Amino acid sequence: MSRHFTSLLAIAAVAVIAAPAPAVAAPKEKKEVDCTQVKCLALTFDDGPSKYAGKLLDILKKHDAKATFFLQGQYVKSRPSFVKRMVKEGHGIGNHSYSHPDFTKADAGKIRSEIKKTNDAIKKAAGVEPKLLRPPYGLSDLQVSDIAAEFGMPIVLWTGGSRDWESRDVEKIKKQTMSVVKGDAIILMHDWVKQTVDAMPAIIKTLQRNGYHLVTVDDIIKHQDLKPGDAFPLPEGWEN
Ligand code: NI
Repeated sequence: MSRHFTSLLAIAAVAVIAAPAPAVAAPKEKKEVDCTQVKCLALTFDDGPSKYAGKLLDILKKHDAKATFFLQGQYVKSRPSFVKRMVKEGHGIGNHSYSHPDFTKADAGKIRSEIKKTNDAIKKAAGVEPKLLRPPYGLSDLQVSDIAAEFGMPIVLWTGGSRDWESRDVEKIKKQTMSVVKGDAIILMHDWVKQTVDAMPAIIKTLQRNGYHLVTVDDIIKHQDLKPGDAFPLPEGWEN
């Protein structure tokens, strides 16, 4: 080794030692948040992955926010790389049927096949099996609940909606979403509504400024002791 090279190494070593230690450890993909101790809220996006899912994932990542995606099997099949990214980046994944039929008007065989095909597509795309079911339109009955139980899945609905599919307007989506915000809220949104994705940076910033930790549905329902086939939050007139 030449003396010249040795002295370069020595300089490099000093530079490494002299570099200041990072103030905080690098964030892990999945942080443990205890929702009994801090304010939590779960943003949920139905019907995707849509063509805007990549942009939405970028926004969530930038703001260190987690969400839950209730996916349609048909789009999992056509956009598997988004599903892979969702899982890798610590988001929750749920089953929202394969082709979005009203389960309360479908026969048992159809419901089973819609759930199974979607579970299979998600497994193939991202290597995980979803543990939660959100039936299309949030519509459920005893038969849907029994079949969800066969698959070992609780049914997860929402506590409030952004009504984004109806307004398709950034300002209205922000306003409606903030009007249903509360501790442990599960908020319904759609990643195929472009204006929802456009509204997301402002919504996330406002929520975080108000002390909310944006977590997955799993974090919210952890303490609910839901059994397969149970619904949460309970639709009016239902008992688990
Ligand atoms: Ni839907």
